[in-house]
Amino acid sequence: MTIDIASIRADTPACNALVHFNNAGAALSPACVTEAVIEHLRLEQRIGGYEAASAAEDAIANFYRAFARMLHCNSTEIAFAENATHAWNNVFMAIDFAAGDRILTGQSEYVSNYLSLLHLARRRGVIVEVIPNTADGLLDVEKLQAAIRDDVKLIAITHVPSQCGVIHPAAEVGRIARAHDILYLLDACQSAGQLALDVRTLDCDMLTGTGRKFLRGPRGTGFLYVRQESLSRLEPAWVDLHSANWLAPNDYSLRSDARRFENWECFVAGKIGLGVAVDYALNIGLSAIETRVAMLACQLREALGSLPGVQVHEHGQKLSGIVTFSKQGVAASQMQAQLQGLGINSSVTRTDNSQLDLVQRGLADLNRASVHYYNTDSEISRFSEAVASI
Ligand SMILES: Cc1ncc(COP(=O)(O)O)c(C=O)c1O
Repeated sequence: MTIDIASIRADTPACNALVHFNNAGAALSPACVTEAVIEHLRLEQRIGGYEAASAAEDAIANFYRAFARMLHCNSTEIAFAENATHAWNNVFMAIDFAAGDRILTGQSEYVSNYLSLLHLARRRGVIVEVIPNTADGLLDVEKLQAAIRDDVKLIAITHVPSQCGVIHPAAEVGRIARAHDILYLLDACQSAGQLALDVRTLDCDMLTGTGRKFLRGPRGTGFLYVRQESLSRLEPAWVDLHSANWLAPNDYSLRSDARRFENWECFVAGKIGLGVAVDYALNIGLSAIETRVAMLACQLREALGSLPGVQVHEHGQKLSGIVTFSKQGVAASQMQAQLQGLGINSSVTRTDNSQLDLVQRGLADLNRASVHYYNTDSEISRFSEAVASI
């Protein structure tokens, strides 16, 4: 399937005004997403928030249907979250950890997830073990396999790291977790919307993500997948009148679906908008998106790698839309600021958020350029010419 780039860019008004290579931070939303959010806010203004939610029942239900189609699961296995961090912590804190339980994670684990692991180690005495990456930056699956023992309660890894352009072998990790009946929590925050995801092949129990990145949804939105069969192993750390039913003065029951990890009040307009964003991606086709993002990122790596004094920091066959680079004599923050002055958005990946990865690889702060399918060859040329000129 080919992507009609002209029409996609026409749906994305900011494409004409700037070069947006910060899709791993927050992508540009298509107009239909922004319109859906504004339309619901206007409805709330006109008829009242609760009344608007009733009127928009189908658009709200679409959030669950859209994610179920995207992830190849049942809509009862999907929950809304206000961001990926909430989604991740809500399921992480639902696991019945005891002192001495081991948690296996990766060298590229997202900073906030890793801080939560450390926090639980401090509070409850769980043991966090980091599985190193191989020389090409991928989680070492053999070392993971070798670390499996009866005391491993959870494997938690990040699919596509935020600080580097690799794609970790999430499905191979899933096979190991399933073979040993270990809970597997996959952070798909940077992969959702740029890779075709299928929870059946990833074989994860829980998968989390955010709306604003490659899914092109509104800020303040996120999602969670929980495999139906795994729900009985997860007790929410806290409940409310939405996640639980109050049966009698001293009795309650938990919701029987993934929405036991939601709470009642939420950003309804954002939830509707994120459903529209997922539909938009599905209409284009996630395999087509994956192919185009990989192609553009490869072009960008080649263009940057050919510039004098510029080093690209990831190598390998299968890389994501995230490209990290540095230019000799130019601090990452200075490069980012000067690019922005030229109408080009990018970001900086910082060592203090990447103690296990950048610091251990002996790297300083890096520039990060992240492309999406709506970017073009000519934007890549403009970007690399700008980097050359700075
Ligand atoms: C890999 C990864 N996981 C989790 C997060 C956290 O997402 P959120 O800010 O929506 O909580 C990020 C954000 O950059 C990320 O890159």
